[in-house]
Amino acid sequence: MSNIRAAIKGIHGYVPDYVLTNAELEKMVDTNDEWITTRTGIKERRILKGEGMGTSHLAAKAVEGLLQKTNAKPEEIDLLVCATVTPDFVFPSTANLICDMVGINNIGSFDVQAACSGFIYALTVGTQFIESGRCKKVIVVGADKMSAIVDYTDRTTCVLFGDGAGAVLLEPNTDGFGILDSIVRSDGSGLPYLHQKAGGSRYPPTHETVDKRLHYAYQDGPNVFKFAVKRMADVSAEIMERNGLTGDDVAWLVPHQANLRIIAATANRMDVSMNKVMLNIHKYGNTTAATIPLCLWDYESQLNRGDNLILAAFGGGFTWGSAYVKWGY
Ligand code: UT7
Repeated sequence: MSNIRAAIKGIHGYVPDYVLTNAELEKMVDTNDEWITTRTGIKERRILKGEGMGTSHLAAKAVEGLLQKTNAKPEEIDLLVCATVTPDFVFPSTANLICDMVGINNIGSFDVQAACSGFIYALTVGTQFIESGRCKKVIVVGADKMSAIVDYTDRTTCVLFGDGAGAVLLEPNTDGFGILDSIVRSDGSGLPYLHQKAGGSRYPPTHETVDKRLHYAYQDGPNVFKFAVKRMADVSAEIMERNGLTGDDVAWLVPHQANLRIIAATANRMDVSMNKVMLNIHKYGNTTAATIPLCLWDYESQLNRGDNLILAAFGGGFTWGSAYVKWGY
């Protein structure tokens, strides 16, 4: 293996202005702030309003900001990978649309679909293009407009999700900084527990599927919870073990933000105290592929060159994964 690593050289995020609070949800479904806060840790989430606005609009804002921050020119980008479960269209890919919106032309761009683990999957893919020497600048985006597939009459899901996007710029590094390891896993037998029932090739949209409200995200929360706690903790422990890391070596755990209780269980298994865990679930909820880059964006000013970060996620599929990142700036 070459000694070229893919280092994160910049991070930027975007969340829409509209704040959907627990108090507002109390007026929409039979729920209350106390239940949502104690069971999930969520206080509010952001919602993208406006007809004709999709995931690409969130992502393009994050990528534009990233280009400005890193002084990277659109023509210097070699590849853009977007993780999303809420693409603007079935085709073309959201990555294609983002490139067009920000003035990136004539490069490879594609979507990765791994639900809530999407960012770790996409980061792993982008890393390969840098490590192989094929690309010098790769953008990896995690973006979701979950409000497009959330049923705001279903209290078991509508309190959980929000909209947002985050993007990182990857560049080659030979000084030992960057994505040093990653693990991605899946188990398609998780289908019954977390999926969108219709709209794909198995059950294409019909009047009946719309009438039966089958185009929304469905989740068997307690069953997903059990898998998530075990898988996220296992994969985080595995990546630490195989890289010889203890809890003391880890500067930050960067977990997918689905439930504060799942995050706490993962931190406990890793022997990492909660003050080293990045958290923003209280203000954004579960933004699916965007949770991890939004955390990095929120905590960017607290990160130091050389910090060991463990990224960890679990989601629909089931999919799960982890990445070991040595922060490069
Ligand atoms: O990001 C992708 C992966 N997803 C996850 O990791 C999510 C995993 N699951 C979870 O985080 C949790 O299962 C939830 C937050 C979704 C639900 O929490 P829970 O502690 O598992 O609650 P529950 O589903 O077992 O429901 C407990 C009770 C039920 O009432 P009964 O049957 O005890 O009378 C629910 O009907 O809470 C009720 N309930 C609610 N009550 C008020 C469910 N949703 C709500 C609500 N407000 N929004």
